Amino acid sequence: MGLVTTTEMFQKAYNGGYAIGAFNVNNMEIVQGITEAAGELNSPVILQVSKGARAYANHTYLVKLVEAAIIENPQIPIALHLDHGDSFELCKSCIDGGFTSVMIDASSKPFNENIEVTKKVVEYAHAHGVVVEAELGTLAGVEDEVSVEAGKEMYTRPEEVEEFVSKTGCDSLAIAIGTSHGAYKFKPGTKPQLRFDVLEECTKRLPGFPIVLHGSSSVPQEFVEMVNQYGGNMPGAIGVPEDQLRHAAELSVCKINIDSDIRLAMTGNIRKYFAEHPDHFDPRQYLKPARQAVKDMVAHKITNVLGSAGKAADLTK
Ligand code: G3H
Ligand code: 13P
Ligand code: ZN
Repeated sequence: MGLVTTTEMFQKAYNGGYAIGAFNVNNMEIVQGITEAAGELNSPVILQVSKGARAYANHTYLVKLVEAAIIENPQIPIALHLDHGDSFELCKSCIDGGFTSVMIDASSKPFNENIEVTKKVVEYAHAHGVVVEAELGTLAGVEDEVSVEAGKEMYTRPEEVEEFVSKTGCDSLAIAIGTSHGAYKFKPGTKPQLRFDVLEECTKRLPGFPIVLHGSSSVPQEFVEMVNQYGGNMPGAIGVPEDQLRHAAELSVCKINIDSDIRLAMTGNIRKYFAEHPDHFDPRQYLKPARQAVKDMVAHKITNVLGSAGKAADLTK
């Protein structure tokens, strides 16, 4: 099916009560791990690239890696998305450079400024056949260069969503309902709970419109324990409970963003490998189990959290 926008993916996901996984890619092993899992499970998938990923791996290398994954997995639809674009220029560069979807994240700006820059990106993107994700409300934690103090997160104000979507023309909307970026999402000892009331209010005001959840890693404790057992130090790392993500996917959430779980899967397994094979120094030796761990983790998400297994077929009809 090749490279697609997210329009049809989201429509089918909305109506089918499932969500599409949006996984961050930074190198070949990550692209392979994600797309091998999605390919084997016949699941649509979104590969997303942050500003930091572009700075690390270079735009062209990442696009070519994704093109290779498309050749290797022709049976599934894949979207290539810019994660947290922070300017019109960055979005334009990705639109001109082959992406099928971009996020303009002006959520830290005042409402009217957010509308203004989002609208500008939408006009350029739509003229080039590319779709746009925007954000209203700010997540706690660190979003690239935007920091918000934990505990002071600004949940999305449902009364703003209709005006924002109608004035900008964006194709999907990321909202803040209590998720956050990184591996430390909730205080140890507290019960992680997403604000489904906020999600439901937004959905009521935007019927049929695709909602996006950032900061949706579940921080699997098996990886945290692996990291800590083999020389790491990540006490109190806690993520979003998977049953709450599953529930969100049944509602209006069509895109669920996962990056930290990839980092944890790789780091835990590489630490373990080094501890068990202190004499090995061939990167292929330790990147192989790391890639396999990404693949297994993504397969688990697709099957048990997102509900997108087998859904590639929906999009070929
Ligand atoms: O939301 C942020 C993503 O996890 C990307 O992180 O900017 O370090 O590449 P990054
Ligand atoms: P996590 O840090 O929870 O993986 O969130 C990733 C994300 O939202 C990327 O935009
Ligand atoms: Zn994010």
